[in-house]
Amino acid sequence: MEYQTIKGEKVPSLGLGTYRLTGKTCAQAVERAIGMGYRHVDTAQMYGNEAEVGRGIAASGVDRDELFVVTKIWPSDFVHDRVIRTTRESLEKLGGDHIDLLLMHWPPQGTPLGETLGAMRELQDEGAIRHFGVSNFSTSLVEEAAEHAEIFCNQVEYHAFRDQSAILDQARGMDYMLTAYQPLSRGRVGNDATIREIGEAHGKTAAQAALRWLIQQEKVSAIPKATGEDHLRANLDVFDFELSAGEMDRISGLGR
Ligand SMILES: NC(=O)c1ccc[n+]([C@@H]2O[C@H](COP(=O)([O-])OP(=O)(O)OC[C@H]3O[C@@H](n4cnc5c(N)ncnc54)[C@H](OP(=O)(O)O)[C@@H]3O)[C@@H](O)[C@H]2O)c1
Repeated sequence: MEYQTIKGEKVPSLGLGTYRLTGKTCAQAVERAIGMGYRHVDTAQMYGNEAEVGRGIAASGVDRDELFVVTKIWPSDFVHDRVIRTTRESLEKLGGDHIDLLLMHWPPQGTPLGETLGAMRELQDEGAIRHFGVSNFSTSLVEEAAEHAEIFCNQVEYHAFRDQSAILDQARGMDYMLTAYQPLSRGRVGNDATIREIGEAHGKTAAQAALRWLIQQEKVSAIPKATGEDHLRANLDVFDFELSAGEMDRISGLGR
């Protein structure tokens, strides 16, 4: 595993996404992934799978303190009391005594940012969560959020076909993690000739090259979702090669 250092803390650069994983399939994928060496798992209250993610974590037998577990609150629950209540419910489902990172899933639709972030700060003070942050926030919204609290992460759509240089610059300037969601562009990166060619030069698939391109960038982590053993294993097998500066630029050039 490789790590990004965020505000002095090491966070695993590669995690497991769990959107659309449900029931037994979800618990099994999480258990398997952790068994293989994944140490970062991403879920959300909206995914309706936190209990299954928690079951997978428990079944893995790996010490909870070795894992970085992330969940997110939906905008309809951004008022103070709902932030507190739903996070306690998440904690109950996920197991353990803390959540590593709690995110606002999307920008608020009316609730003042300070109210939601204030509630998150209370949860942090009592030890229920270790860090908090945002998702799908523009750079200006992150700036506004940072007036209320220290932002640990902004999780946004980021992959070879999507330029995120403004957020990336901000993440480096403010020392927060840019977590790349849909890092495989839902599988589309596998069809790109440039990425495939770069992967082949290293004996890797296009998906692996696309993941390597992400985690090789300072402050970036990636959370590919995978269901079966083969994809889970392939996505973790990205630590034994390095893309050259030229290869990095070629992939960056695909983004819009
Ligand atoms: N914050 C947000 O608003 C937000 C929004 C979207 C997603 N997310 C998070 O980001 C995670 C990842 O995004 P995503 O699930 O939408 O898309 P993704 O990770 O880009 O792609 C997942 C798709 O790629 C396939 N795949 C996985 N590994 C592969 C490989 N090595 N080769 C070929 N295909 C492969 C998966 O198939 P199998 O499942 O069959 O393996 C699945 O169909 C989500 O699960 C969720 O945790 C967050």
